[in-house]
Amino acid sequence: MKNYQANDTRYSTMTYRKCGTSGLKLPELSLGMWLNFGSEAQDDVCREILLTAFDNGITHFDLANNYGPPPGAAEIRFGQLFRNDLYNHRDELVISSKAGYSMWAGPYGEWGSRKHIIASCDQSLKRMSLEYVDIFYHHRPDPNTPIAETMGALAHLVSSGKALYVGISNYHPTEAIKAIQILRELGCPFVLDQVRYSMLDRWVEREALVDSIYPLGMGVICFSPLAQGLLTNKYLNGTVPEGSRPTHTQFLRKEQITPEVVNTLRQLDAIAESRGQTLSQMAISWLLKDERISSVLIGASSKEQLIENLKALENRESFNDGQLQEIDRLTLQ
Ligand SMILES: NC(=O)c1ccc[n+]([C@@H]2O[C@H](COP(=O)([O-])OP(=O)(O)OC[C@H]3O[C@@H](n4cnc5c(N)ncnc54)[C@H](OP(=O)(O)O)[C@@H]3O)[C@@H](O)[C@H]2O)c1
Repeated sequence: MKNYQANDTRYSTMTYRKCGTSGLKLPELSLGMWLNFGSEAQDDVCREILLTAFDNGITHFDLANNYGPPPGAAEIRFGQLFRNDLYNHRDELVISSKAGYSMWAGPYGEWGSRKHIIASCDQSLKRMSLEYVDIFYHHRPDPNTPIAETMGALAHLVSSGKALYVGISNYHPTEAIKAIQILRELGCPFVLDQVRYSMLDRWVEREALVDSIYPLGMGVICFSPLAQGLLTNKYLNGTVPEGSRPTHTQFLRKEQITPEVVNTLRQLDAIAESRGQTLSQMAISWLLKDERISSVLIGASSKEQLIENLKALENRESFNDGQLQEIDRLTLQ
C-alpha cells in the first residue's frame, strides 16, 4: 500500500460553516460511515473514499457505535485507516460518534442512561484508536430516561476529556430546546442537532426545527440528504442496480422505488439539468441554500460518487423562485 501524502491544496476550495454560535466550523459537505464502511466493504474502496474526502477539504467524518454492519465495524475500520493514513492529521479532523441505538445485550446497551452513554463512548474510543472524539451525540431521544441524566452524561464526557463538544440527533424541537437549556446550565459546549433532511423528507420544515433551535445557538447537520441514494441518477431508469443499498440493507427497500417515485425523480432531474447539475448535486445545493445549515452529511459507496457530489459546491447559482416552487410541487405531497 502506498504511503498517503495529503493533497497540499486540500483547503483551497472547501467552504467551512459555523455550528450554531460555537466556534467550531464544519465543511459544507461531511462524510458519514453508516453503511459503506462495514466489515464486508472493500478495504481499498473505503480507503479511497476517506482519503479523497480529506484531500478535498472534508475534515468531518461521522460515525456511531452501531455503524457497520455489523455494529462497531465502521469504527474499527475508521480506526485502522486513521492509524495508517491520518494519524498525523488528527488536529485537522472533526470525528463524531454516537450512543443510543441498540449496541450490546442487556439493559445498558441502548437508549440514554448515564451508564449506556459513558460505557459506549469508552468502547467507541477504543475501536477508533482515539483519545477523544470531537463531537459525541446522543443518537435518539429516550422517553424513559430523564433528559437531565442524558445531558449530564454528555457533559461528563466533555469534562473528562473524552469529547470536545456534544450534540443530539433525531431530537424534535421541543426535546431539543429542553436539551439546550440543560446543556447551557451545565456549561457544556453543544453544537449540533443531526437530523434527517432532504428534498424528499421535509419534517424539519414542518416542525420548524431550524427556526426553533438556531436562535438558541445550536446548528443543524442534515443526514441522508440524498434520501439514501434516491436523489441520484441511479434509479432514474426504474431499476435497482447490482450492489446498491436496497440490495444489501433493509433501510432503503426495493418496494420504495415505485413508478410514481421514479417519475418524481425524473422531473427533479430535469430541474437539476437546467441548473447544470446532476440530481445528487442539486439535492446537496438545495439544502445548503439555507445558511443556517452547518453541513450536509452524505454517504458514498465509491470515490466517484463522492467526487460527483463535491461538485455541488462549485455551483453557487442560487435557486430561482420557479425552480423552488417546482421542487415543492413535486416533493411536498
Ligand atoms: N443520526 C442518525 O440517526 C443517522 C441516520 C442515518 C445516517 N446518518 C449519518 O448520515 C450519513 C449519510 O447518510 P446516508 O448514507 O443515508 O446518506 P445519503 O447521502 O442520502 O445516501 C448515501 C448513498 O447514496 C448513494 N449515492 C451517493 N452519492 C451518489 C452518487 N453521486 N451517485 C449515485 N449514488 C450515490 C450511495 O448509495 P449506494 O450505496 O446504493 O451506492 C450512498 O451509499 C451516514 O453515513 C451517517 O453518518 C445519521
